[in-house]
Amino acid sequence: MKIDKRDGFFIAVVVVVLGIFVAISGKEKTTTVPNNEMHKIAYDTAFKNAPGPDASLFKRTFFKPDKKGAEVYCEPCHKEKGVPFPPKHPAKNRCLFCHKLKR
Ligand code: HEC
Ligand code: HEC
Repeated sequence: MKIDKRDGFFIAVVVVVLGIFVAISGKEKTTTVPNNEMHKIAYDTAFKNAPGPDASLFKRTFFKPDKKGAEVYCEPCHKEKGVPFPPKHPAKNRCLFCHKLKR
């Protein structure tokens, strides 16, 4: 089969889309928030309105954890406990954008 201009364009689009997928999934490698005693307050705040297992599928699918509420606790405690940030740590608002909660 000969590859004409339109095929080339199609291939280029596919390559770009795949590239974007790879770029996005690479960003997901940031360490997750450990689900331990220390971080219980963050989990409890984020999931305090979580629908129970008997709630409708609709409610469970569209539930969003209260990330903004939980983020309030992150930095003060890390400061108090002396948890170090890596030297090149990015801007430190919205922790949970990058550090995902585990379910
Ligand atoms: C009550 C204190 C406290 C709060 C609140 C807290 N942290 Fe932590 N965090 C710690 C301590 C202490 C460590 C050191 C490791 C450990 O004991 O889990 C830590 C470690 C971490 C780590 C590194 C985990 C690893 O595997 O190295 C991440 C990421 C993190 N916290 C994110 C967060 C985020 C995001 C929040 C807010 C949603 C948060 N923490 C709230 C105390 C806290
Ligand atoms: C823009 C994205 C972003 C935001 C926002 C962010 N971080 Fe990070 N954080 C990173 C990256 C990237 C690293 C280094 C790579 C990694 O996760 O090991 C990191 C590393 C860390 C570590 C060390 C993890 C380890 O394994 O040693 C801690 C602790 C941490 N962040 C806490 C926080 C806290 C607390 C906040 C909010 C105040 C926050 N981060 C906000 C991206 C982010």
